[in-house]
Amino acid sequence: NRYCIIMAGGIGSRFWPVSRTNRPKQFLDFFGTGHTLLQLTYDRFRKIIPPENIFIVTNEQYEGLVKQQIPDADDKHILLEPQRRNTAPCIAWAAYRIQSIDPEANIVVTPSDHLILKEDAFAECIDKGLEFVEKFPALLTLGVKPNRPETGYGYIQIGDESNGDINTVKTFTEKPNQELAEVFVESGEFFWNSGIFIWNVQTIIKAFQRYLPEVSARFESGIGKFNTSEEKEFIQENFPACQNISIDFGLMEKASNVFVLCADFGWADVGTWGSLYDISSKDKNGNVNQEGKSLIYESDNNIIAVPKDKLVVIEGLKNYIVADSDNVLLICRKDEEERIRQIVNDAKAKF
Ligand code: GDD
Ligand code: MG
Repeated sequence: NRYCIIMAGGIGSRFWPVSRTNRPKQFLDFFGTGHTLLQLTYDRFRKIIPPENIFIVTNEQYEGLVKQQIPDADDKHILLEPQRRNTAPCIAWAAYRIQSIDPEANIVVTPSDHLILKEDAFAECIDKGLEFVEKFPALLTLGVKPNRPETGYGYIQIGDESNGDINTVKTFTEKPNQELAEVFVESGEFFWNSGIFIWNVQTIIKAFQRYLPEVSARFESGIGKFNTSEEKEFIQENFPACQNISIDFGLMEKASNVFVLCADFGWADVGTWGSLYDISSKDKNGNVNQEGKSLIYESDNNIIAVPKDKLVVIEGLKNYIVADSDNVLLICRKDEEERIRQIVNDAKAKF
């Protein structure tokens, strides 16, 4: 009775223009491994959870990409959202679907765009987590030791009680501002939320009823339709009406039965150009050139991402992102990358 929900419907806007709305980060071979991040995620879980219990939730826009990249997943295992509603409705739908199949299911929820380097340690962690939620009505998240005051993550303050590696959680703060993130990291009491959650299906449904009752009420009204020929129409009607909110803001920040399993499994959510720069190998001047051909003069600490067949020449450039893809070329200071979200909005509005 172990299940997995792979969330693969985000648009990865911080990696624009290489990650685009029509082909976001999870569908790209980001690290030149020969596999896309979604494929790596699916393969990682296939070893831990029976493939017939793995569900991929994505936007209907990406149906083709998912089917092409994961040919083993059939229509019953791909949930297509008619509109983007962020991760809370995504998880709620999958939870109600799974409940209709197995009311005692224990579920791992995972993003599809992370890198995990220590697969054995990861599998062990998932096992431990699943065993825990089989016994306790906990909302368990996997925590990772922070090494910088990154503002794009959730921060978990560990509580006083522990059960082996599993701790109670005192506070959960999603995406704090810079100042707060610095305090959190310095205090040593906080872990990053990896965005990987483990819970029993009844526990998460109860949490939705309590903290996001409008969302759960929508899905409650569909009980009996999940996993039948009526589900599609029900979703077309009801999913777009759900609140647009992440599981972190909507539920994890509020719930009192949150627990954290802190572990080192080589987790990297390479969520921004800066974090990709940090983990990539660099030339002697600190430049990262992902794909290949370049001539670089008097230039330091840049990250260059352009298609393989294009020669890049840079001179006198320091601390920049140079990213080229199809019809967009981005040249942006590395320490101003937080602007990229806004830039994407501006570009969409104007062109
Ligand atoms: N199906 C579906 N529908 N998937 C979605 C949607 C959606 O509307 N929106 C996002 N996703 C997917 C993304 O593709 C990604 O795999 C995952 O859900 C997480 O969404 P992000 O948008 O990447 O979240 P985040 O990175 O800002 O924050 C989350 O992850 C951090 C760690 O990487 C939070 O859980 C943070 O607390 C956490 O620290
Ligand atoms: Mg993310």
